[in-house]
Amino acid sequence: MHKLILYTSFIGQENIILPICQSTNQFALDLCEQQAPQEGTAVLTFHQTAGRGQRGNTWQSEAGKNIALSVILKPGFLEISKQFYLNIITSLAVYETLHSFLQEDLKIKWPNDILCCEKKVSGILIENIIRGSRIAYSVIGIGININQDSFDYPQAASLKNFTNQEHDLYALSASLLKHLEEQYLILKAGHYNALKSVYLQRLFRYGDLAAYQLPDNSLFEGRLVGVQEDGRLLLIVEEEVKAFDFKEIRFVYGL
Ligand code: BTN
Repeated sequence: MHKLILYTSFIGQENIILPICQSTNQFALDLCEQQAPQEGTAVLTFHQTAGRGQRGNTWQSEAGKNIALSVILKPGFLEISKQFYLNIITSLAVYETLHSFLQEDLKIKWPNDILCCEKKVSGILIENIIRGSRIAYSVIGIGININQDSFDYPQAASLKNFTNQEHDLYALSASLLKHLEEQYLILKAGHYNALKSVYLQRLFRYGDLAAYQLPDNSLFEGRLVGVQEDGRLLLIVEEEVKAFDFKEIRFVYGL
């Protein structure tokens, strides 16, 4: 018997809770292609077996310990050139959800990882279905490490690692849905500048000089000064502002 008690008006009101699922994003994308789901439909599991991550990576998660959620939005109002705002609102929603438990050193790492003390607690994968010049469906995929004790990657951590207590996966999922709806409504109301400015306030390394890596493995230093409307990261490198695509740059830690 599940207990998803919702505080939303449309996000999650239609929900599919799966005891096990390969990828909630794939399940949601299939729904979009086959069934014209209503906006806000959520696909939720605590046991995802073939989660998809960014850069073609997998997203691994121990059974029964973590949240894997995909929410179907229909942001027909949003120009394709502004689709990065979907990353912004999703990052802010996850940030707000975790902020109730983790006040210190919670950051958004561009474009949309959530870090606590420089460890990744949450990852986001947004997959859009474009029809004509509009986004017909956006599948907002969110993985949050909640009760998992240990990870294969030293850069990963869970909420429990920081709070030393177990958390209710249903209650956190409901809170996440509420925060996502709030942020989505701010976007729908057209408050782009406000969203961008809150995102920058919470951005890891904003204003700082740090090391980055290019695809040829070479390292360079840059100061993170912003994010372009198209989502590219802006760094000052040797006194010149340069924009970087997600595939063009990696953050370097510990130099
Ligand atoms: C990343 O690489 O950081 C993004 C990870 C995104 C994982 C989530 S879990 C729910 C949804 N379903 C998937 O298959 N992936 C996303």
